[in-house]
Amino acid sequence: MLEQQLIEIRRHLHLNPELSHEEFETTESIRGWLEEAGIKVVDYSLATGIIAEVGGHHGGPIVAIRADIDALPIQEETGLPYASLIPGKMHACGHDFHTAAILGAALLLKQREQELKGTVRFIFQPAEEKAKGAKLVIQSGALEGVQAIFGMHNKPDLPVGTIGIKSGALMAAADGFVIEVKGVGTHAAVPEAGIDSIVTAAHIVTALQSIVSRNVSSLQSAVISVTRIHSGTAWNVISDKAILDGTIRTFDDKVRSRILERFKQVVDGVAIAYGATASVKWIAGPPSVHNDSSLERLTIEAANSVGLEVVAVAPSPAGEDFAFYQKEIPGFFVFMGTSGRQEWHHPAFDIDERALLISAQYFANLSERAIHQLLMTD
Ligand code: NI
Repeated sequence: MLEQQLIEIRRHLHLNPELSHEEFETTESIRGWLEEAGIKVVDYSLATGIIAEVGGHHGGPIVAIRADIDALPIQEETGLPYASLIPGKMHACGHDFHTAAILGAALLLKQREQELKGTVRFIFQPAEEKAKGAKLVIQSGALEGVQAIFGMHNKPDLPVGTIGIKSGALMAAADGFVIEVKGVGTHAAVPEAGIDSIVTAAHIVTALQSIVSRNVSSLQSAVISVTRIHSGTAWNVISDKAILDGTIRTFDDKVRSRILERFKQVVDGVAIAYGATASVKWIAGPPSVHNDSSLERLTIEAANSVGLEVVAVAPSPAGEDFAFYQKEIPGFFVFMGTSGRQEWHHPAFDIDERALLISAQYFANLSERAIHQLLMTD
């Protein structure tokens, strides 16, 4: 019965996706489901997103479970009967699944509320896709008093019934950059009268590729991708300006700062070599999701007790703003197997709904174990 309820909740969310910071109806739907179950909603004055609590009758520690609730600006192409009703918007990252499953954990814990030896705070977080929501939640005060936080992302390449658990770096720091190269415009036939921003930009793109290969240890990993170049106005004019942007993915704070340092040196050095100037604007994204090893045993024991098979996983170069919580308090993020056919953010992305109930059971079990561990160590 709970399984059917969670499927219906997930489909309702899937039919009605809302983008980051616009999750007003999603928030109201979640509020409705929580209130219907008699679960306490706590007001932290978030514009979108909602916080709820179960337990606390006996005092005790507070643990948090986080679900993200936002969708993406993608036109859905799944052909599913419950495909998005909203053109150009889609739950293509499975945050509808996260929300439904973690709501399921709240419903399960509500049934056992009298026995809970602490409080489980449920964070239904907005704006993960823009990497802004976790910061808003932290600013709202909703993390105060919380001693450990847990969350998940669905993982299409893992089958339902498996869970990827890994201490340390699990997902990448996802930073962006914008480079502006300034040269001097001139007639295309008289290049010696100007400074060619396109030639300079081309050499910058090439030189940046040496950072990962020459400045990062072969035992570490990183990605630098220049993904866009804008320059020029006509076929016979040498362009005075070029804008390049892209992303940098890293798993280690030291590698991240080393790349930043080298990045600026390479860009400046190449620009000078060609007589141009260049500026770099850094768009700092979330840091790397870094799982606290002191919580790993709990996450494995919870998996074993609900019948999930624990599998080894490689880190993902995608970013995830759950990392901001882990900068504040110990946290652990897991990958839940959902037997998907497409990767995250694909227009035909889908999850196997058989993963819903077991995920709910997992987070309910994990919450109780975390409270127990905190009581033992207090
Ligand atoms: Ni996602």
